Amino acid sequence: MAAENLDVLFRPFQLKSLSLKNRVVMAPMTRAFAPEGVPNAQIAAYYRRRAEGEVGLILSEGTVIDRPASRNDPGIPFFHGAPALDGWKHVIDAVHAAGGKMGPQLWHTGSTTNPRTEWVPDAPVESPSGLVAPGQPRGVAMSDEAIADTVAAFGRAAADAKRLGFDTLEIHGAHGYLIDQFFWEGTNERPDHFGGATIRERARFAAEVVKAARAAVGPDFPLILRVSQWKQQDYKVRLAHTPDGLAEWLLPLVEAGVDILHCSQRRFWEPEFAEIDGEEGLNFAGWAKKVTGAATISVGSVGLSGDFMAAFGGQSSEVTDLEKLVARMERNEFDLIAVGRALLTDPQWVRKVRADDRESLKGFTAAAFAELS
Ligand SMILES: Cc1cc2nc3c(=O)[nH]c(=O)nc-3n(C[C@H](O)[C@H](O)[C@H](O)COP(=O)(O)O)c2cc1C
Repeated sequence: MAAENLDVLFRPFQLKSLSLKNRVVMAPMTRAFAPEGVPNAQIAAYYRRRAEGEVGLILSEGTVIDRPASRNDPGIPFFHGAPALDGWKHVIDAVHAAGGKMGPQLWHTGSTTNPRTEWVPDAPVESPSGLVAPGQPRGVAMSDEAIADTVAAFGRAAADAKRLGFDTLEIHGAHGYLIDQFFWEGTNERPDHFGGATIRERARFAAEVVKAARAAVGPDFPLILRVSQWKQQDYKVRLAHTPDGLAEWLLPLVEAGVDILHCSQRRFWEPEFAEIDGEEGLNFAGWAKKVTGAATISVGSVGLSGDFMAAFGGQSSEVTDLEKLVARMERNEFDLIAVGRALLTDPQWVRKVRADDRESLKGFTAAAFAELS
């Protein structure tokens, strides 16, 4: 693979107040290394190394809003309260000092359990209808008051992200966590304004969250929303079965204030609606861009042979080339590409790719989860 083929990855990107030197985004990755929920110097150094390694935009690990049961692991950092926000200030200052750009990923884990620990929060876990999966009760159904407080907490976190100097922020609306539990008919049986038979109705909670974030940050600060068809509870679930369904889901969110849709899939080369445009057809981010007109981020197994869920199951991945990625970026299918495990393992991944230094790229093994290198 010749270095000049990769130019498409190294074009700058500009949207509102965000300007990036290249198209590579570090995907949000929970590391659970924050003692007492506070990002410490090791965490700041971990992100700074990715900025030094010339990642265009760093998205933080999921960091939780101010609700009593918003996290499902004690090592997940808070994005509220003075000690944690001071910690995040050190993180963004370190990233900026190294020439990087960064946004926190704002999160509420809903009624999910954590497969890695038995830990449960002190307060009752909450979800739209007291379910974690179809027919599987867990936690309490949220009251109107709880919903209003959650929306307000996302708004406060957004205001804090801007105040601390972050360049953008991402709202986590994917993977079967709280916001996605509202999207999913299997976990949202609410008879009220936040439920309904259509995805447009079930997207109202997310739209409220987006509006609160937009009101908090003003018009020029770019907002990213992460969405996925798949759920950790069921990889096969799809919220949108057609491009029209996709528009019904995502357009109201763009109208509410989202600038960039981060479209999570496990393998970026898989077509979203192959029955329409074939096996080489547009992927999830490609269709989302086409039907909404918003900028999009794609993701999923860039540079690696196996997907990330297989990695959690202990499977190793080999290094692969980037030809398929370059081809899709050259046809302008999506704007940015997020890279997860390759950047978890190697802070220098972007530099090595740019230099066409394939020999020193590393594969992925589950051992990498154990340290913050
Ligand atoms: C250790 C680990 C933690 C993750 N944590 C999050 C998270 O906090 N929020 C999120 O949206 N996705 C999370 N993901 C998913 C990644 O953002 C990404 O979508 C996925 O790893 C696919 O990219 P990759 O194949 O390049 O690794 C995580 C993935 C890994 C490997």
